[in-house]
Amino acid sequence: MLSVSSCKNRDHLREMDVQFSKEVIERLAAAQSVAVLTGAGISAESGVPTFRGEDGIWNKLKPEELASMDAFLKNPDLVWQWYQYRRELMNDIEPNPGHYVLAEMESDYDDFTLSTQNIDGLHIRAKSQRVLELHGNILRNRCNTCGKLTDENFPGDNVARCQCGGLIRPDVVWFGEMLPQEPLYDSFAAAERADVYLSIGTSAVVQPAASLPLEAKHQGAYVVEINLERTEISAMVDESYLGTAGTLLPELYRLVKEERTRENKD
Ligand code: OAD
Repeated sequence: MLSVSSCKNRDHLREMDVQFSKEVIERLAAAQSVAVLTGAGISAESGVPTFRGEDGIWNKLKPEELASMDAFLKNPDLVWQWYQYRRELMNDIEPNPGHYVLAEMESDYDDFTLSTQNIDGLHIRAKSQRVLELHGNILRNRCNTCGKLTDENFPGDNVARCQCGGLIRPDVVWFGEMLPQEPLYDSFAAAERADVYLSIGTSAVVQPAASLPLEAKHQGAYVVEINLERTEISAMVDESYLGTAGTLLPELYRLVKEERTRENKD
């Protein structure tokens, strides 16, 4: 079930100071199985607001008033308007180099799994072929009564209704709801077999997704975090790099490709 734990660390480091270790480069170059968890931070450079951190949405609004079944049943139009507003924000955004490099990595590794907490669909637009969307997708809707899924766009500020009479809701996971079983199961299976696990742009406080990097670590993966600031899991992972995903991730993978080329020559 979707739930939150507290987040304490707030250190910042200068991105210019970041130097990737030989170990992470060599491990990624040699890895047979790589798995990744992304959060709102990877889409921040595309202009999608994050939930926590300095300008986070939840600093100004209360999740339980907008992202829960109680809120929807109490005031369906208000919740609907909130998601319509966020959909409008999506119209003008494009994937950034962080999304694109993950799509490239997917085609380079035989076993590569991308799990995301984001509902913005940007990984798919960046041409990642298989995206495990743990919290759903804001561009899809479903009927709250009969469960029918639809890609249909319902304009307007009033909540739409299904043919069955039920209320239409965004196909996203709200607080207190269960995550979709298949992507969750596949995400944990990938974490268990990963040689290297990357946690990118997530505060790692929302469960159960936040457990994925730690589960990977528990099963022997080398776990690397890239985030603007320290998180709940920074002290538990093997390496934590502070900076923007759109800069650091492409740079890391550039070094990995260089390492592969060097190895092939030797
Ligand atoms: P958060 O907003 O909690 O965390 C995003 C993290 O990204 C923060 O730690 C930021 O410091 C960091 N960040 C910001 N810009 C960045 C950048 N350019 N590069 C790298 N990191 C950056 O977002 P999530 O961890 O994704 O759930 O939040 C998890 C869930 O909580 C969301 O899926 C959402 C929310 O409530 C639902 O709505 C169901």
